[in-house]
Parts: sequence; C-alpha cells; structure tokens
Amino acid sequence: MKKKFAVLGDPIEHSWSPLIHNSFAKQFNISIEYEKIKVASKSLDNVLNDLITKDYTGFNITVPLKQEAFQLSIEKKWDITPRALKARAINTLFLREKSFFADNTDGIGLLRDLHQHGFSEKNAHILIIGAGGAVRGILPLFLKNNPKKVVVINRTENNLQALSKTFDEEFFEYFTLNDFNKKFKEYDHVKAGFTNFDLIINATSASISNHGVVIPKKLFFKCPLVVDLFYSSDPTAFLNLAASSGAKKTIDGLGMLVEQAAESFYIWTNKRPKTKEVMKQIRNDAGYQ
Ligand code: ATR
Repeated sequence: MKKKFAVLGDPIEHSWSPLIHNSFAKQFNISIEYEKIKVASKSLDNVLNDLITKDYTGFNITVPLKQEAFQLSIEKKWDITPRALKARAINTLFLREKSFFADNTDGIGLLRDLHQHGFSEKNAHILIIGAGGAVRGILPLFLKNNPKKVVVINRTENNLQALSKTFDEEFFEYFTLNDFNKKFKEYDHVKAGFTNFDLIINATSASISNHGVVIPKKLFFKCPLVVDLFYSSDPTAFLNLAASSGAKKTIDGLGMLVEQAAESFYIWTNKRPKTKEVMKQIRNDAGYQ
C-alpha cells in the first residue's frame, strides 16, 4: 500500500518538498504519495483530523503553522522530542498508533549541511542574525555541541528577549542590531569580543524581500562560512555582500531544506536517504547556481 504524506502551510505552491520526498522514495523503491496542501492559520487541528481519515501518516509543517503545531502537540499530549520542546515549534509529525510523534528537524538539517561544508561547532564562535521561528528551530542543536560563543543579534527587542529567556546558557549573548553595530564601532572589535566568527548565519526573513541586513563588513572578512537560510535562484543581497567583503565560503538554505526533509523521511520510513543528488536536481530544475 502507498504511504501517504503531505506538507501543510501557506503559501505552499512553490514548495520543493514533494520533489524531494519523491526522489528519496525512489532511492528505496518505496511507493509514496506526497501532497502539498494549503492550510491557513488556526485550522491545523481540523485538517489533520480529516487527513488521518484519508490514511495520511506523516506531515511536514511549514510557515505559518510551526508554532500552532507545537501548541496542538502540547494540548493533545503528543510525544514531543526534546529539541522540538526547546524550539517550541514542530516541522514533522508522524502518526504512530493513534497518536502523533512530533519533532523539529530544522536544526539537525542545518547542522548536517554545515558539517558537509567543513564546519565544526566545537569551540566555534557563531553569529546568528534574527530571533524568530527559524532561530528557535536551530539553536537547540548548537546548544548540544559545545560552541565557544553564540552571539544573537536582532532588529528589535521583543523576539530577542523571549529568545534569551529560553536559551540562557552563559555562552549566549544577545544584542539588538543597533547596539551591536554601535558596540562594534566604539571599540576595536577584538576588544569587544566579536572576534573571528567561524560561522555567520542570516536567519532573518529579510532575504525574502531581498533586503540586506546591515552588519559591519569587517565581520565577513576571512569568515570561513556564511549562510543565508533563505534560498533562491540568485544569491541573496546578504550573501553577495559577504562574498564581496571577503567571506571564504557562502551558502544558501537549500542544503538545510533537503537535509531537514531527509530527517523527516527517516522518521517516517526508518530509511536514511542520500541528499546530494536531490540538491543537484533542484539547482538544475530551478536554474539555481
Ligand atoms: P521565521 O520563522 O522566518 O524566523 P519570524 O518568526 O517572523 O519568521 O521571524 C523573522 C525574523 O526576521 C525576526 O528576527 C525579524 O526581526 P524582528 O524580530 O525585529 O521582527 C527578522 N527580520 C525580518 N525582516 C527584517 C529586516 N528587513 N531586517 C532585519 N531583520 C528582519
């Protein structure tokens, strides 16, 4: 019998998830059906109930439903993984018996992709820009693997404060973008402690509208790896700035997208797919570079 899966969110038309999961299934000769279904905020519960009656067993949850899926998982007392509990956001659901297993594979997806680009989080200095849902998904993974310092900067206070309450380990530092830039200007950046980030991540949604995020260009100079979690056929303004300011390597979020999908696929099927070919295929199909 065909296994039935779906990605739920809004907007959903341009999702690569069906292509990715069908390609994974082919690797193992598994017969699957993978749909993209537009689901508005506040209707996840009803939609899930309906899809269960139609024999769907696995779901990817995307914008804007990840927090709603988390609230639902709490209310219904579903089995939530520690990393998803910490992130307070769910991107993967798997129906086991009559109850869901709820997880967040965004962080592990990013980390797998970063490792493939030679990054190791052990003792690393990491700069993260943004404090929204995407950052909540990825921080739990950086918690586990002993980085030296994680500096989080964000445009405004609200998200930043909320985040600093959840992630209050001593190696985390939080600044608004303005404060960070001021501090950077006032002091020699070495004295300010913002030295040689091993990794800079743009986890804001600014790149969706191709807005650059303004941080001192110096930070990019010789930075081994700069990531924009957004992906598009052309490099984002942020990645262009990083490259022209001396970053050694710049990557977009496609690798993370495919790796988080691979982890979901593993949860649903107990099989770990290869990811490189799928990434190549998407870059070819979409004219990505
Ligand atoms: P996501 O799930 O993609 O993280 P989100 O939870 O809405 O979406 O968070 C968006 C993040 O991008 C926030 O950190 C937001 O900053 P604020 O907390 O100040 O709103 C950030 N962001 C969005 N547009 C931005 C821009 N033009 N410049 C800088 N940061 C921006």
